[in-house]
Amino acid sequence: MEEKKIIFSGIQPSGYFTLGNYLGAIKNWTKLQHEHNCIFCIVDMHAITVRQEPKNLRQRTYDSFVQLIACGLEPEKALLFIQSHVPAHAELAWLLNCYTYMGELNRMTQFKDKSSRHSENINAGLYTYPALMAADILLYQTDLVPVGEDQKQHIELTRDIAIRFNNLYSPTFVVPEGYFPKAGARVMSLQEPDKKMSKSDENENAYITLLEEPSRIMNKVKRAVTDSENQVRYDIKNKPGISNLIDIYASITGKSIEDIEREFSSAGYGQFKNAVGEAIVETLSPIQERFKELSKEKGYINNLIREGAEKAERMSYKTLNKVMRKIGLYQVK
Ligand code: AMP
Ligand code: TRP
Repeated sequence: MEEKKIIFSGIQPSGYFTLGNYLGAIKNWTKLQHEHNCIFCIVDMHAITVRQEPKNLRQRTYDSFVQLIACGLEPEKALLFIQSHVPAHAELAWLLNCYTYMGELNRMTQFKDKSSRHSENINAGLYTYPALMAADILLYQTDLVPVGEDQKQHIELTRDIAIRFNNLYSPTFVVPEGYFPKAGARVMSLQEPDKKMSKSDENENAYITLLEEPSRIMNKVKRAVTDSENQVRYDIKNKPGISNLIDIYASITGKSIEDIEREFSSAGYGQFKNAVGEAIVETLSPIQERFKELSKEKGYINNLIREGAEKAERMSYKTLNKVMRKIGLYQVK
């Protein structure tokens, strides 16, 4: 990656960020901000495709913004803002809905998964969620989208929509690419290691949040489901629990899977889990301290939120106007 690229990614304020969010996405964001033009968005309009308690949503959105900074994102380097503050996202989402096929949306695994988990509320927003995500990305002429592996299908669809629109009219959107970490792209539940770690899991032992106390983190790792072999060996199919812990450890320490297997070849699961727990605590402690300090600076944070929205709004209208003109919506010059 030689020249400066435009990077865009989003995260939902639907719960407190998990270790999966951090290793799958946020950690990559903090690296990319030094070399590229980065834009990161708290996607509150995506979060409401599942019912949210208003008071919690409001607080989590603020806390999400603070957590991103606590994780190392620098507002002088990366543009940070809240999706609902920039109307162009909803506007372009509507337009792109008209270029997205129901057949495509029907294939989305996240939709199938969420509609089975929330069968009482399968709303149209949940269904057209990927068109809003495509709007987020395409508004900024994004080159790269750093996300976890669960978002692959949505990025593919975003590319298809961009290509379709460009072919129908003329080149309008940059066709973006996904960007995934080598380790940690798919952190699994600590309790059901064939399911991804999710902040909305009903079982609290399944995930670790960024703000969790060290003793709870150690406990959750100790309780993580493994197997009876007691051999630290990577084998996703037969040993998904221990493989997940190896992957987490690899992502945090930067060590290769082979090196980790070697290092712990004569250790049992107890000793390995201890090392994994400690590595997680060591990574999260400084984030937690910064979070505590920053949360108190409400005036400073709210200023950043306001400035981020203003800047994003100016940028986003360029693409939105272009799209409206190409489609043939009447504009007064
Ligand atoms: P979400 O929490 O669904 O808004 O996801 C925000 C970002 O975190 C996206 O880039 C996801 O791909 C990533 N992410 C969420 N859960 C995981 C996980 N368990 N492992 C890796 N990445 C994840
Ligand atoms: N759908 C993403 C998720 O659940 C969040 C998201 C919304 C996103 N808009 C985005 C990610 C744009 C990357 C780019 O994780």
